[in-house]
Amino acid sequence: MFRLDGKVALVTGAGSGIGREIALLFAKQGANVCVADLNGPAAEAVAGEIFAQDGEAFAQPLDVTDLVSARAAVATTAERYGRLDVLVNNAGIGMVGNLTETEPEDFDRLVDVNVRGVYYCSRAGVEQMLGQDPKGGAIVNMASIAGQVAVARRFAYCTTKGAVISMTQSTAMDYVGDNIRCNCVCPGTVETPFVEAYLQRYHAGEVEETRAALHARQPLGRMGRPEEIAPLALYLASDEAAYVTGAQMTIDGGLTAR
Ligand SMILES: NC(=O)c1ccc[n+]([C@@H]2O[C@H](COP(=O)([O-])OP(=O)(O)OC[C@H]3O[C@@H](n4cnc5c(N)ncnc54)[C@H](O)[C@@H]3O)[C@@H](O)[C@H]2O)c1
Repeated sequence: MFRLDGKVALVTGAGSGIGREIALLFAKQGANVCVADLNGPAAEAVAGEIFAQDGEAFAQPLDVTDLVSARAAVATTAERYGRLDVLVNNAGIGMVGNLTETEPEDFDRLVDVNVRGVYYCSRAGVEQMLGQDPKGGAIVNMASIAGQVAVARRFAYCTTKGAVISMTQSTAMDYVGDNIRCNCVCPGTVETPFVEAYLQRYHAGEVEETRAALHARQPLGRMGRPEEIAPLALYLASDEAAYVTGAQMTIDGGLTAR
């Protein structure tokens, strides 16, 4: 497994699901981790899990839709650990609806968290990475296959994840000479509280049937697991990925191959 010894990482949305798994794995592989989340107690709990496995971490309340909050998270991390080597823009939200079912306020909410959030945290992160000595770092954005192909009735979600892929490419190219790499992960459906919330909200009377259909949708016959996504983020964050920038790494049980 790739190592992050001595590296400093900030993971957004690290209080749950994929972000939690990334924070735990990064700490296990030697990184000092800022566990950042809108849900402060959830971030505290994950930092506690890291301590319990003899890792180094702290919990940071963060609202990615607020540039002041994003800058504070980066500044606190750099004050505590001396620099920022890895930023994982993982925080994200979803909703179901085609174009005519998507209300303007819902569209705005998704753009705020999924697009503006990546912009603000990347901006704060890149400012830190450019100013530190030695200069540089790695950014890993959590996009989705929903940014690569259409997923039925996910108009706003697909839109925002397409934007994450574009932001990944722009950032990668604009800072390619500054020792900053930027890549994104495009998961298919992964069994997390995000999917659980979707099942309860949109399929309350048919949770198990819908869960089975979600499993069956992947050619591999099941949804992915957060612990299967985290190692890809680890690779992209590691020095072994020195030649990888601007990439979209799909990890979807074969969904987009058919
Ligand atoms: N689960 C999937 O099937 C799947 C598939 C592809 C991509 N993704 C993406 O992976 C990422 C993580 O998803 P997950 O399934 O682990 O979700 P999750 O709901 O389990 O966790 C998301 C975390 O983000 C936090 N968050 C939400 N809004 C925030 C904000 N404004 N500021 C800071 N934190 C905030 C939440 O508190 C939560 O802890 C998201 O970007 C999601 O779009 C998920």
